[in-house]
Amino acid sequence: MGLKPATNPDVEATPIELSIDGKSVTAKDGVSLYDVISMTGKIIPAMCYHYTFDPFGSCGMCLVMQEGKKAPVRSCTAKAAAGMVIRTEGEDLFLARKKAVEKHLSVHPLDCPVCDADGHCELQDMAFQHGVTNLANAKQKFIPEDTRSPVLDFNMNRCIACAECINVCKDVLMIDALQFMKKGGFNQVVPKGDLPLDCEFCGDCLAVCPVGAITNKFSKYLYKPWQMKKTTTTCNYCGDGCQMYLETKDTEVVRVSSPLSWKNKWGDRSETAKGHGGLCVRGRFGFEYLDSQHRLVQPLVREGDRLIEKPWLETMHALTDRFTEIKRKHGADAIAGLATARCTNEELYLFQKLMRTGFGTNQLDSSARYGHMNFVLASKHAIGLGRTSNDWEDLTKAKTIIVIGSNITETNPLTAVRIKEAIRVYKAQVVTLDSAVTNMAKLASHPFLIRPGTEGMVIDGLVKAAIVYDLVDEEAVGKHPRAFAELKSAVENLSFEQISAQTGLAVETFKEIATIFAESPRSIIVCAEGIVRRTHGYQNVLKLMDLAWITGKIGQPGCGVNTVTEEPNEQGAVDMGVAPEFLPGQARFDDAAARDRFASAWGASLPSVESGAHLVEILKRCKSGQIKALYVLGENPLATFPASMEVRAALERLELLVVQDPFLTETAKMAHFVLPACTYAEKEGTFTNLEGRVLRIRQAMDSLGESLPDWHIMTALANAMGCQWEYQSANDIQSEIMKLLPGYYNLGQPRKFVPVLDQYLSNGYAAELKARYRTTQASDERTRPFALVMGQLLMHSGKLSAQASGLIRIAPNTGKLRMNLRDMERLGLQDGTKVRLISDRGSLQLAVQPDQSIAPGTCFFPEHFNEPPVKDLMTVSVDATTGVPSFKHMWVSVEQV
Ligand code: SF4
Ligand code: SF4
Ligand code: SF4
Ligand code: FES
Repeated sequence: MGLKPATNPDVEATPIELSIDGKSVTAKDGVSLYDVISMTGKIIPAMCYHYTFDPFGSCGMCLVMQEGKKAPVRSCTAKAAAGMVIRTEGEDLFLARKKAVEKHLSVHPLDCPVCDADGHCELQDMAFQHGVTNLANAKQKFIPEDTRSPVLDFNMNRCIACAECINVCKDVLMIDALQFMKKGGFNQVVPKGDLPLDCEFCGDCLAVCPVGAITNKFSKYLYKPWQMKKTTTTCNYCGDGCQMYLETKDTEVVRVSSPLSWKNKWGDRSETAKGHGGLCVRGRFGFEYLDSQHRLVQPLVREGDRLIEKPWLETMHALTDRFTEIKRKHGADAIAGLATARCTNEELYLFQKLMRTGFGTNQLDSSARYGHMNFVLASKHAIGLGRTSNDWEDLTKAKTIIVIGSNITETNPLTAVRIKEAIRVYKAQVVTLDSAVTNMAKLASHPFLIRPGTEGMVIDGLVKAAIVYDLVDEEAVGKHPRAFAELKSAVENLSFEQISAQTGLAVETFKEIATIFAESPRSIIVCAEGIVRRTHGYQNVLKLMDLAWITGKIGQPGCGVNTVTEEPNEQGAVDMGVAPEFLPGQARFDDAAARDRFASAWGASLPSVESGAHLVEILKRCKSGQIKALYVLGENPLATFPASMEVRAALERLELLVVQDPFLTETAKMAHFVLPACTYAEKEGTFTNLEGRVLRIRQAMDSLGESLPDWHIMTALANAMGCQWEYQSANDIQSEIMKLLPGYYNLGQPRKFVPVLDQYLSNGYAAELKARYRTTQASDERTRPFALVMGQLLMHSGKLSAQASGLIRIAPNTGKLRMNLRDMERLGLQDGTKVRLISDRGSLQLAVQPDQSIAPGTCFFPEHFNEPPVKDLMTVSVDATTGVPSFKHMWVSVEQV
């Protein structure tokens, strides 16, 4: 069944009047009667209902009396209508609901003492509320538990057949991995086809199950819900910034839950446009690194070949002496720093302040440089906004979404759920353009497979099509006639035929996509790794801006060009000024007024404007001997870059390598000093998610061993270097940021922004276009038959998730190269066959495995693993404007050994 709530943003639902318990209520026409009742603040029992998906109507608990009807009606599946007279209370309704509880309990095992849901069970609550004490006809089910999944166990003896698990998986997530199946005389929930569960393992089904029928393998039989401390915080894996509850017992993280729960079932369906409160597999099951035995719990100091545990005080004294000595002997420009975007805003702010005022250097960068900076710098250049233009609600309510170069269900699964809702509830047209067969492509109205490395040419084709087929917005281009003439002339020489031949898309397709995009009232572009982490990333984002501008999609409500971020605080790293080109607030480092403002606030002079260096330049200067000391905060360049970057040689040349990290990473193993840092679960602060929302993280447990929050270590180091910092808490740092960047925290909402194109389109635009639309060539010259792509898996995030044993259990490193089955058959390869993978940088042997998401002509290896070291087959090219290194795409040969 399915009662669709009124969620069309283009149609204002008609207001209706009805009476509930004698009171007149105004509601929207077409919504569930249950929603209208709960809107009045009255909560009536409902065991199979959740506002995030369509009502199912099986439990028989939400009964109400409707005037004119003899029998009670199920309010969840009934549609509210004008003039209805509803009664929600009374002895008759109480008895009817009690009967429903008795029916469920009569086939329930009553094993509450050993059930994980004991104390967090809707059936238990209902039995209690209705005083069910007598179960004369009870019978047991005796269904064996299904324990085949790596994360969830299915105990169908406890199932009340409410279908919430099936509905959330099918409706909200559009994964559809569960079904009912009649077995042993009972309707049971089974993984599709009754095979072992093969899904995204997000655990949302577990979250909505009102009883203990689906249980979490990680926390089963450990503690009762009331024994655990529940801390609301923000996920530390990707830039979606999902809200979660870390449930801990002392220093043990027991499980992760989220706002999506059967307990949180009352809401307006249109509210889910901002998020449904669920998590992905990483957020829910990737917590075990927090209290891992591999965590660093004591400072380590190098003595010869060994790293020896030392007390903090001795370590900090020795470390300060080394920094001071290097600065005295070689000057401030002999020092540089790299920070991870998994740190909080407050820590990133302190990091740049320490580098600039404590050490006096502008050689600093963050992991946002691996790609996000291409977007930030391009967007800032074009419209003056160094982040995405649209939030989740815009995405959900968009009419057209172009997803280009993004495997979004893998990288940012909860942003992907917004697009899924746009498809399912709001009927959006979604165009996917990717060289992989992505999950989003399977759901999209217009999925297109493109040749690897041709994303930029695809955009050329779209811009040209918008112009040639007269799809431009007269008002938008009319404001800048000269710029439009320049753009028109820049794309004139691009040949549709050539673009079509190279990208694999027909000329008609470009016209079709450009038409859909231009004609829709709310059109959004999402570009990601296939654009921002690849060659010409900066220019390709600007091309997308050109497309959005000429079709009138810049500055219009619900329109814009967006990206997603891989790490939780890449946006925060840029906003806090962890980049040589930016001070906090993305003020230009060479802006005299901004320099004066920060210098006076910090009571220190700033390094000269010429002295800065970004990530790649820092590593080059380490190798040349110019930089003598490198302070690495949570970054791991040795494990990230291909061998051709010669990171090892660069780090070996250093007189002082300091790594501050929760783990002994590959880079840390080379360090002179290793400082044990806390994880996000052991500290306070904020992250800025991909929408620009500032979200709190809260301390859920005491820090492990002698590890300390990064801000704490940096404060000690700064003071030892002669600064006078008085921060006692993350709050103190926040207060300083608030003064310098008024409105940044903004109660968690992205700041409002009006894009301005005038500067961009009038200042050297023509000259820029010449470089941008110069050729119709793919981003790399094809030299070998296969495109090798290194990218992200849903179950992992950077190298951090490899420390999360739960995620490794779900998705271990197979060490195999993933290929399309057709290519494997053509080459006579089977699962496990050994091949030699050859690039212009070298070769290695590894086995292959089929993967249906890999397009023919492509092979894939997950970037999270360096065994075997596939990354070393890649070359690095550096964007001339942004300094972003690209090394995730390479041409290779595959030969059977
Ligand atoms: S874990 Fe997520 S994807 Fe898997 S069945 Fe449950 S809801 Fe569906
Ligand atoms: S497993 Fe839980 S959520 Fe699914 S139908 Fe049974 S009781 Fe409902
Ligand atoms: S990894 Fe990203 S999508 Fe998954 S729970 Fe964390 S923030 Fe949400
Ligand atoms: S909540 Fe309405 S039938 Fe279950």
